[in-house]
Amino acid sequence: MTQPLTQRLDEAVAAVREATTLTPRVGLVLGSGLGAYADGIADLVKLPYTSIPHMPSPGVSGHAGNLCLGRVGDVPVACLQGRSHVYEGHGMDTVVFGVRLLARLGCTAVLLTNAAGGIRPSFKPGTLMLILDHLNFMGKNPLVGPNEAAFGPRFPDMTRAYDRELAALARAAAREVGTPLEEGVYAAMLGPSYETPAEIHMLRTVGADAVGMSTVPEVVALRHAGVRAGAISCITNMAAGMSGNLLDHSEVEETARETRGRFETLLTAWIQKIH
Ligand code: HPA
Repeated sequence: MTQPLTQRLDEAVAAVREATTLTPRVGLVLGSGLGAYADGIADLVKLPYTSIPHMPSPGVSGHAGNLCLGRVGDVPVACLQGRSHVYEGHGMDTVVFGVRLLARLGCTAVLLTNAAGGIRPSFKPGTLMLILDHLNFMGKNPLVGPNEAAFGPRFPDMTRAYDRELAALARAAAREVGTPLEEGVYAAMLGPSYETPAEIHMLRTVGADAVGMSTVPEVVALRHAGVRAGAISCITNMAAGMSGNLLDHSEVEETARETRGRFETLLTAWIQKIH
């Protein structure tokens, strides 16, 4: 029998507190290709997920497994360097354990990044897109099961799943560093196969601008916990059928690598605007 969530989180928090006295205020979830950002933060304390009780280890190329605490400018941060995905076979509970830990450690805002396929025709590989809203096509929700009232309400509101003030700060940060930032709706699919062109046609018809296999479970869990969420996708490829190309994970990784410098500069400016 697994222990109750609160107990598992308490044990994880205790392990982190033993390693550092820093109380993070802003959490970061670093998606494909962006993990290295955490290695550059000041006063870095790096804890392998394996050293944190109950923390799942990600198994995908491009995703390390460390909780990194430190500072970006004056802002104390905690970064999930690598995330677990539902397609790896984990329960939703496991997938959102990391962001719940960020909440428990003291983060009042969490910024999430991901790699995504571009659906809006004007997008190109390398486009950065601020997520304004999402479509959950995973067929799952992390809040299914008994509700732990200590965590949040049974039926949390999702009208403003992506915090408006964080979005405004992302726009201001993009202007400041001179990085174009598109905005749109992110559709989450279960994966791990990429979508068919027919699925992309459907997603485009129902209002999606980008598609990926992450982020939505974490955002739902964060909103449940009353933590503000902001998210940016790196469009690493055009979605299936949108260009003449077939999809390949190595293209996703390559574009993420090429975009990294611009994405990191934006992230640094964004974090420093959050109080
Ligand atoms: N589809 C789903 N997930 C993705 C894609 C895609 O085209 N690119 C990067 N992650």
